[in-house]
Amino acid sequence: MANKSGALSVLKIAKMKEAGEKIAMVTAYDFPTAQMADAAGLDMILVGDSVGTVVQGRATTLGVTLDEMIYHSKMVAKGAKRALVVVDIPFPYCQLGPAEAVRACARVLLETEATAVKIEAGASRADTVRAVVEAGIPVLGHCGLAPQSIKATGGYIIQRDVDKLVADCLAIQDAGAFAIVLECVQSDLAEEISKKLRVPTVGIGSGAGCDGQVLVFHDLFNYTNKEPNETPKHARVYCDLHKLIDKGFREYVADVKSGAFPSAAESFAPKPVRS
Ligand code: KIV
Repeated sequence: MANKSGALSVLKIAKMKEAGEKIAMVTAYDFPTAQMADAAGLDMILVGDSVGTVVQGRATTLGVTLDEMIYHSKMVAKGAKRALVVVDIPFPYCQLGPAEAVRACARVLLETEATAVKIEAGASRADTVRAVVEAGIPVLGHCGLAPQSIKATGGYIIQRDVDKLVADCLAIQDAGAFAIVLECVQSDLAEEISKKLRVPTVGIGSGAGCDGQVLVFHDLFNYTNKEPNETPKHARVYCDLHKLIDKGFREYVADVKSGAFPSAAESFAPKPVRS
């Protein structure tokens, strides 16, 4: 499937860095959310494998399948007219080598109207990123905290090895990524990397020195049932959907129980019976 005409291209995203315009990105997993994000001016929408934790209720993102990513990406891409839609490639397709990665990424572009894929990779998997780019598939890199490697790293580990992180980002840029997500990188380092790179960086928990920002929808709107002190440090809650929906549900239950819903106006009037 071709991506939609009028959508922001990877070239335009790259040019935003040159122009000094910040890139606004959010995750989405369904049609209505993508439609709203698109209409509100988000530049990029990520169908993140975070779908595993925030939508499917899993403890980690590791069990999310490619079929599930494609299912959600079809809906999101339909809702996005302008924003560039990027699809996360879940574990372990890009860990299995270039051929497997190209096959998985090509499936995403063939079966959805998304434009690009996101690959969690450092220098050791630069060959995989290069193979996907050479297959004509735009790649958003992902460096720093690596949720797909938690079993190897022992958890959600903040990368503090400055030389490794810089080398990872440069290798992924050189492999052809059009931009790179920096997850939970200390802000001074993220700023330094952003200045060093030709391509834009999109930070999450990496400070204001990045060329853009990405947040998970459910963190942005407190859609999961989190206490304020459980909101990730890097997230800002712009509107408390949990509170709003909880209030609405409780009022609905009360109205059904009391008979206040439905009213006559919310019901179909009996049809006059003709003899
Ligand atoms: O899956 C996801 O939502 C992500 C973001 C945290 C960037 O990778």
